[in-house]
Amino acid sequence: MSETLKAVILYDSMSKSGSTEAAINAIGMKLAEEGVYVEKARCKANADYSFVRDFDIVLLGAPVYYFVVASQLLGALVSGNLRKNLKRKKLALFLICGSPEAMATVLYLPQLKLNLVGNRILAEKVFSPASLSDEDAIEDYVFDILDEYRKAMKSRIKMQWSEDAIELLQTLPPFMHSGIRGLVEDYAEEFGYKTITRDVVERARLDQGK
Ligand SMILES: Cc1cc2nc3c(=O)[nH]c(=O)nc-3n(C[C@H](O)[C@H](O)[C@H](O)COP(=O)(O)O)c2cc1C
Repeated sequence: MSETLKAVILYDSMSKSGSTEAAINAIGMKLAEEGVYVEKARCKANADYSFVRDFDIVLLGAPVYYFVVASQLLGALVSGNLRKNLKRKKLALFLICGSPEAMATVLYLPQLKLNLVGNRILAEKVFSPASLSDEDAIEDYVFDILDEYRKAMKSRIKMQWSEDAIELLQTLPPFMHSGIRGLVEDYAEEFGYKTITRDVVERARLDQGK
């Protein structure tokens, strides 16, 4: 990878230093070992999630309490602005719960996925609290995420940028170039543009505000 990949783990839990925290720390450490820049943020349903746009991969993780995925994460998706800010983001999902994996996959993961239609989900995993001590399980999950991300990037057609689009990009501060480039190219890919013109940049900008 030429530029450092940035990942954020958004999570929720009723516990402090419970199994969700343990999962996040283990997943975060493994991602960092693979050269990924990682941040984590505990969800509040009504928080402003515009910061997630700066990340290449967003991980959503939560435990299940009384048959429902932890409420602040679910609330942020259902009634907050998280879903809007996840537009075209590549995601990874994980749950921590006491139920068997097959049951959790049918009953609990869809509670998140129903709110993420249209997103590319790189990997999803149900951990039991006991399985968090299994380093291989964490490593497999992290490797799946990174493999799928690389595949998605590889399959992307190399986009051409017209001179006027490059000029427009250069009016922005340099630290914004890579993020804006990514957003515009994600938009162009979805709508089938092979050349990025000034007009495409403008359309992507308007679309992002929706
Ligand atoms: C109050 C409570 C309710 C729970 N309800 C469920 C449930 O409905 N289904 C399930 O699979 N696990 C359930 N669990 C197990 C938790 O999902 C699991 O222990 C998880 O690791 C808790 O995460 P935490 O340590 O971050 O709080 C429940 C646990 C608690 C404490």
